[in-house]
Amino acid sequence: MNECDQPEPPGSDTAPLKRYRVWDLTTRMIHWALVLLVLLQYGTAEWGWLSMQWHFYFGYAILVLVGVRVLWGFVGSDSSRFSQFVHGPRGIAAYMRGTLWRKFGHPLGHNPLGALSVLALLALLLIQGISGLFASDAITVFGPLSGRVSDATVRLMTRIHEINQNILLAFIGLHIAAVLLHVLVRHENNLVVAMITGWKRLRRDPGLRFVSIGGALLLAAALVFLLWAIVRWGQAVSAY
Ligand code: HEM
Ligand code: HEM
Repeated sequence: MNECDQPEPPGSDTAPLKRYRVWDLTTRMIHWALVLLVLLQYGTAEWGWLSMQWHFYFGYAILVLVGVRVLWGFVGSDSSRFSQFVHGPRGIAAYMRGTLWRKFGHPLGHNPLGALSVLALLALLLIQGISGLFASDAITVFGPLSGRVSDATVRLMTRIHEINQNILLAFIGLHIAAVLLHVLVRHENNLVVAMITGWKRLRRDPGLRFVSIGGALLLAAALVFLLWAIVRWGQAVSAY
């Protein structure tokens, strides 16, 4: 059951604040690694940092991390599971009317609207990474799978890569603005600290179940191997 659906126990508003764990190590590490890697992606492609070869390496890392995060949404800790925080249109509408906010008090994981932006960010990162595999400037930079598809597909994927980078940027801007809004207007100073440390000060035990990082490392190893095989297969064609 979603911790947010539990009725507030009587007197919980006045219960003392205690530290409870809300985010696991896997989700936090993936989050901050993605922040750094996405910055490096814009740096390498737009601002001449390092080289485009590094754009590829960082891009592969993003694909693996987003892949692990998506799988973690099915097999990971409670607060990271999609089934725990995806509420559907009615949940979002109710949240926006403020009713759920009053019922929830301060949400522990994602609020219903935040959950939508999480899904959008993950989807946009996947689109960006996958389109990059097929993209090319047709002069010096060739995505590893660009030799395996038609010129029309390469042009389409390159276009998607160019357009989606702006959409991704807009959603990242919205995401950071939403976090700032929660911190500055709703005074949820806990929010960013919780994404760093994993702990939040709450009045009641959210009763979350956590899965150790070992499973995530296994998933990451499997995805690294899969991506390595795909890239090698793609590049084999240009070796002739
Ligand atoms: C490239 C930039 C960023 C991306 C792609 C990104 C992506 C995400 C994603 C996917 C989540 C969901 C966490 C999960 O369940 O996996 C999330 C949550 C979060 N992010 Fe970011 N993020 C970015 C930048 C930032 C920055 C700069 C901050 C700090 C100011 C930040 C603060 C947070 C916080 C506090 C949460 C948890 C929100 C909640 O409690 O519902 N993010 N972010
Ligand atoms: C989420 C990860 C990624 C981000 C944020 C990103 C971002 C960008 C940006 C901003 C550009 C410049 C586009 C322009 O000229 O307007 C670019 C170009 C490019 N990227 Fe990525 N990229 C990502 C992943 C990848 C991956 C995984 C690959 C391939 C392995 C890749 C291959 C390329 C190529 C070949 C170009 C040159 C295409 C052109 O000249 O238009 N990218 N990328």
